Amino acid sequence: MDLSTTYLGFTLPHPFMPGASPLVDDLDTVRQLEDAGAAAIVMHSLFEEQLVGEQLAHAAYAEALGESSPEAHSYLPAPAAFALGPEEYLEQVRRIKAAVAVPVIASLNGSDPGGWLAYARLLAQAGADALELNIYELATDPAQPAGAIEEQVVAMVRAVRGCVSIPVAVKLSPFYTALAHLAAQLDGAGVEGLVLFNRLYQPDLDVEQLEVVPSLRLSDSSELPLRITWLAVLSAYVRPSLAVSGGVHTALDAVKAIMAGAHAVQMVSALLRHGPQHLGAVREATAQWLEEHEYESLRQLQGSMSYARCPDPKAFARVNYVKVLQSWRAAEDTASRTLALRRDKA
Ligand SMILES: Cc1cc2nc3c(=O)[nH]c(=O)nc-3n(C[C@H](O)[C@H](O)[C@H](O)COP(=O)(O)O)c2cc1C
Repeated sequence: MDLSTTYLGFTLPHPFMPGASPLVDDLDTVRQLEDAGAAAIVMHSLFEEQLVGEQLAHAAYAEALGESSPEAHSYLPAPAAFALGPEEYLEQVRRIKAAVAVPVIASLNGSDPGGWLAYARLLAQAGADALELNIYELATDPAQPAGAIEEQVVAMVRAVRGCVSIPVAVKLSPFYTALAHLAAQLDGAGVEGLVLFNRLYQPDLDVEQLEVVPSLRLSDSSELPLRITWLAVLSAYVRPSLAVSGGVHTALDAVKAIMAGAHAVQMVSALLRHGPQHLGAVREATAQWLEEHEYESLRQLQGSMSYARCPDPKAFARVNYVKVLQSWRAAEDTASRTLALRRDKA
């Protein structure tokens, strides 16, 4: 079965790859992922907080650091909390590049414009084939309008684009007021890919210690429908290739994401749970599904359920919303009819 796809301009034998995670901090695991057939390696992020906190010798970079906000420093995790410091991260890019033949996608992760974005150039120089820019921000400032937040995202992307010529993907949160407009702006800013989505990590409260407790819960397939919705919407009109990130655990999950328009399928929770070889198992099961359903290639499936075929996506979404609310009543009616039948029989 021809599973080939194009992501960030790379022709890949299939769409499956590990998403950004600590899996690739260890070179043995990277090799296991390649053995399992990973089409690309997405690296764990290098965080703005690390770059702003570190006094780097690199002269141009150190100069640009002047733009960063000083109060950000007070919340910084200790350097030891990060698996790899900035210099070690560059070394890890070089090591992974030397160890695998597939494209290596480095990841920069932050929320504010600033000189730290210039680090993209060093990642490209270290050998990264592409860059994923993860913009993760909780919009907490009541004085900052939605448009300004989106403009800031686009400005950050332009800053990175200005530093590197390798393909750039942006990993987004689903919680923008006008995601479709933002995606179009990012398309205009020259990104080659959009990764849908970041997960919003929701901390818990320790009510005895009065502390915020970070909680990391691995995903399950229930997180996929939000991705499917936006893949279907965006694949109808944006030029950048699309990756799904979040909630892919099985071949059926992957098939749904690809039907909605995904060009790449990233998995993290499933690989953390079942090990790197799970990537190969999902790839094989996807090929089998395509054969059983008489598809000739993955490209034939790709985008077949995109909103591109829908004359009025907004009306379609609205109709589905109303239908879903009404389906509860239909389910209740069926349940009470079944109960009545049972009662009659008794
Ligand atoms: C332990 C862990 C570490 C992660 N680290 C990063 C990271 O460094 N950068 C990033 O962009 N996403 C990171 N993620 C998010 C994943 O890349 C992915 O978007 C998310 O887990 C949803 O995908 P999944 O449902 O396949 O797990 C991390 C996720 C986990 C579970």
